[in-house]
Amino acid sequence: MPFGRIPRFSPSFSPQEALLSARYLMRDGDDDEVVAKFEREFRSYIGAKHAVMVPSARYGLYLLLEALGIGDGDEVVIPALTYYAVPAMVPLLGAKPVFADIGLTSHVLDPAAFEAAITPKTKAVVPTHLFGTPCDMDAIRAIARKHGVLVIEDCAQSTGARYKGVRVGNLGDAAYYTFGLTKNMTTLSGAMITTDRDDVAEKVRATIKAGGRTDKAKLRKEAVTGFAMFLATHPKIYWAALHPVIALGNKLGDDPIHERFGEPEHRYDEVPASFRSKSQATAVQAAVGLKQLERLESLNGARIRNGRRLDEGLAHVPGLTVPTYPEGAEPIYMSFVCHHHDRQGLAAALRSRGVDTTIGYMSDCSSNPIFSEFAADCPNAREAFETLIHIPVHPNLRPKDLAHMIEATRQACLEVGGG
Ligand SMILES: Cc1ncc(COP(=O)(O)O)c(C=O)c1O
Repeated sequence: MPFGRIPRFSPSFSPQEALLSARYLMRDGDDDEVVAKFEREFRSYIGAKHAVMVPSARYGLYLLLEALGIGDGDEVVIPALTYYAVPAMVPLLGAKPVFADIGLTSHVLDPAAFEAAITPKTKAVVPTHLFGTPCDMDAIRAIARKHGVLVIEDCAQSTGARYKGVRVGNLGDAAYYTFGLTKNMTTLSGAMITTDRDDVAEKVRATIKAGGRTDKAKLRKEAVTGFAMFLATHPKIYWAALHPVIALGNKLGDDPIHERFGEPEHRYDEVPASFRSKSQATAVQAAVGLKQLERLESLNGARIRNGRRLDEGLAHVPGLTVPTYPEGAEPIYMSFVCHHHDRQGLAAALRSRGVDTTIGYMSDCSSNPIFSEFAADCPNAREAFETLIHIPVHPNLRPKDLAHMIEATRQACLEVGGG
């Protein structure tokens, strides 16, 4: 590739997995068997007693809250910087999301803010291992134990990360993961819950079993989209295909990827019928998941190498704040999120050097108008939301891409100024 054209992301989905998807999409009948095999392999990878495939992480959270008996008048503590769909599930059970602040540069739940948010009504906390960074789970678990609060880990961005040697998802009462096309492992579409509690797993499975199968037409579309993403971000093609489209879109004031993949933030009046009616996974999702699980350590390993290189290379760039990690966290660098007071200027200066960045899809839910009745004061989440920028860290970056990116970021920060 001409030097220095670097996409913001690159899917882990491979052409072999696209072929596998096509094969499974054409046959019928073995859904239960393949899904059960994937659930078995996944639960043993995480180290949990049970794993159940669910259609999405947000519905996984809903099912876990329901199975854990959380409902009317209960409170659930959620970090303020998160994906809007997480807190949006809580009021559907009659419960209240209570937003707690994050560490400004770790981006994950601040244990002291969690403790301060606890009231006699608090029933659960959702430590979210955001951007691949595990939360300070010793502190969070000690506080949860002291106050009798259940722990539901959000592992949507951290499948395979560890905290003090233990995989996330194994550190609370239950956990959920998601495997969309842009995640560190994919099943085209779909998600998983894990738990050691027999009663919780049984309840979730019973609800899932009552629904129909995930739509094959949707999965066909996802497989085609995944393959198109693989092609569009391939180093030999990206510079001539997707990069000019993004650059033009940005010049015209739009981000074409956000436009295509971002979903408008909204509240649900009720659990969407599609969540319930198409809840059971199919063989194609599980077959792709099994292949991805085989590759996950190597995909995560590449992210970790790249992330550590960026940690080092960007540590002392004027005006740029680099991420930090709680003690004991072993991040998988799902994203590499820095802060800059002129992130738009920085993004433009990086784009002119061939590096594509994004501001991603998280919001400060504590000040988000869609959650106005649950507003809270979370200054770190607000500042992070206003200043964060994702520098590429995906597994397909080569050492020379990283070297170029580090130099480009230094130059761009100098050009834009200390902020
Ligand atoms: C931190 C976090 N939690 C939950 C979700 C929701 O996942 P899903 O789209 O499968 O509901 C996402 C989605 O990306 C996420 O990033």
